[in-house]
Formats: sequence, structure tokens, C-alpha cells
Amino acid sequence: MIPDHVTLVEVGPRDGLQNEQQPVATAHKIELVQRLQAAGLREIEVTSYVSPKWVPQMADNAQVMAAIQRQPGVRYSVLVPNMLGLQAALAGGDATRPDEVVVFGAASQAFSQRNINCSIEQSIERFAPVVAAAREAGLKVRSAISCALGCPYQGEVTPDEVEHLVKLFKQIGVHHCGVADTIGVGTPRKVQAVMERALKHYPLHEVSGHFHDTYGQALANIHACLQLGIHHFDTSVAGLGGCPYAKGATGNVATEDVVFMLQGMGIDTGIDLDALVDAGAYISDVLGRAPVSRVAKALLIKRGRVFA
Ligand code: HMG
Ligand code: MG
Repeated sequence: MIPDHVTLVEVGPRDGLQNEQQPVATAHKIELVQRLQAAGLREIEVTSYVSPKWVPQMADNAQVMAAIQRQPGVRYSVLVPNMLGLQAALAGGDATRPDEVVVFGAASQAFSQRNINCSIEQSIERFAPVVAAAREAGLKVRSAISCALGCPYQGEVTPDEVEHLVKLFKQIGVHHCGVADTIGVGTPRKVQAVMERALKHYPLHEVSGHFHDTYGQALANIHACLQLGIHHFDTSVAGLGGCPYAKGATGNVATEDVVFMLQGMGIDTGIDLDALVDAGAYISDVLGRAPVSRVAKALLIKRGRVFA
């Protein structure tokens, strides 16, 4: 049942950088994407077309999309919260066109209000024409279901609440179901229970896990998903990130840590770990801090790097 190949969606340039307080130059974001694809990542979440008043760090979305040198076989995705976002993502024509868009909702009402300023039901009304237009334009559409294992405002979130949103996204035509543990409180059995709900409505190859590592559970949760045959995960190089609307949320599980675990299990990812560690070291140096990834730190120390 454990898959022999896993696809990682690198979300560092988007989820990783969106919460950075210091400005990150557009050129550094572009270089990060270049390095990630050179390391073998085949799915990269590049940026988001959200309101720059809400998330100023992503205001250079079109410049980044225009400047990355696309490689054949790599899928570039962007977040779109509404029609304005989709229109902006398509406005530049082929030069900036993503291959995939991500619509993001929350399993809890409270987080939906804080993150996208509307209820769950309103978010689906808002997303329905966006999904239809994206499909019409030939784009793949992925969902992100935030707070699937717990909410910073509501607390417990039940599998029923998650399944409710899975069904709504499915009804409006979303191709892929992304289940997100925004605040990292999930543990393996709970994660399996939620994933099983997603798998009732989507095939195995269209379900993915997005685990923030706030409580150090992300690798265990990925392993729990592998046991269900799930083979698609979002990860963030150097463990960058957090969510501006989830206080204390740390980054997604580090891509380096996941690749190391999968390689050790004999599971193919197509990723060159040394090149990935270089990409993580690059962006960590830009941000002026050490990578959060344990694997990256260990490998860099082995290469002679000293961390304070
Ligand atoms: P709103 O204020 O309710 O929307 O925001 P509005 O339609 O009333 O518009 C207000 C202003 O924003 C207007 O400008 C619009 O033009 C502008 P003004 O007239 O005041 O000058 N605007 C936009 N500008 C650019 N691009 C757009 C856009 N839409 C409106 N697309 C909205 C609603 C959803 C836009 C807002 O709440 C928003 O942008 N939220 C961003 C939330 C966000 O990016 N969160 C982080 C990403 S989600 C995440 O990290 C979770 C994930 O990783 C999974 C997990 O871990 O859980 C995916
Ligand atoms: Mg996230």
C-alpha cells in the first residue's frame, strides 16, 4: 500500500514567504524558484494573487511569474481568493499564466472569516465562478482546506466539518483536494480519519496533505498518509513560513526533512537532496537565519557550515 513514488508540491515561495515581515526582493523569489526546479521539484506554488493590503509580501506576484524561466514538466501554481485574483493571474497572457490555481477555504467558520473575510458558504459562492472560469481557461484547480485538524479560533474541528467542505469543493468542480493542518495540531490517527473523508469523494491521486510542523507532528502525519497510499504532499524548503491569520503557526514541514525520510524508505521523489539543501541555504541566507529543517542543518554542518 505504501507508494513507491511521492510528488512534493513546493510551497516555500508562497506559503513560506507570505508571512515574512522583512521585504524579500523579487529577484530573490525568482532565484529561489529557479533553484527549486533545478533541484527536481516538479510542482511549485509560486505566489498568490490576493489583496496586497492583506498580504503585502505577495504584491509582486506578476513580476515573479513573468521572470521565472519555466522548465517543461514543471507545474506552476498560484493562489486565487476570488475572480479578481484569477483575472490578475491570467492578465499577462502566456508570460505569467499559471498551470494551476488554488482556491482556499476553511473547515471552520471562524478561520474563514479571518482569512478570507467571509463565511464558508459565501466562500463557495465566491469560488464557484472562479473554478468554472479557471477550468474554461484550461487550468487545473486545487483546493486547500485550512484548519482541517484544528482551528486557532474555534479549537476542535470534526471530520464531518472537513467532509462538508470537501463535498462543496467537489460540487463546484475542483479537481484536487488539499487537506491542510494549518496550525500543526494533527496527530496520525486523526489525520487518517480526516484523509479517509477526503478519499470518499476524491481518488487517491487527487488528495494531498499540507502539514505545518508547529508541534513536530508533520513527518508522523505524512507517514500516516503514506499508509493510506496518499502520495502527494505540500512541503516548504528550509521549513519556511506560517500563516498571517494563524498566530504562532510555523512553516510547513521542511522539504529537506520529507525528502530525507522518503529516500530512506526507498520512495522516489525525483529530488536531488544536495541541490535542495543549497536552495534552502540560499533563501535562509537571504532572510538572515538558519534553515528550520533538521536535515538541512545536519547536512550543512557536515559540509563545514557553522550555526550560531
Ligand atoms: P475583502 O477586503 O473582503 O475583499 O478581501 P473586497 O472584495 O471587499 O476588496 C477589498 C479590496 O481588496 C479592494 O481594493 C479590492 O480591489 C482588493 P480597494 O478598493 O480597497 O483598493 N482586492 C484585491 N486586490 C488584489 N487581488 C485580489 C483582490 N481581491 C480584492 N485578488 C480577500 C477578501 C479574499 C481578497 C482578502 O481577504 C484576501 O486577500 N485575503 C488573503 C488571505 C491570504 O492570502 N491568506 C494566506 C493564504 S491561505 C494560507 O496560507 C493557508 C494555506 O497555506 C493552507 C493552510 O495551511 O491552511 C493555503
Ligand atoms: Mg499553509
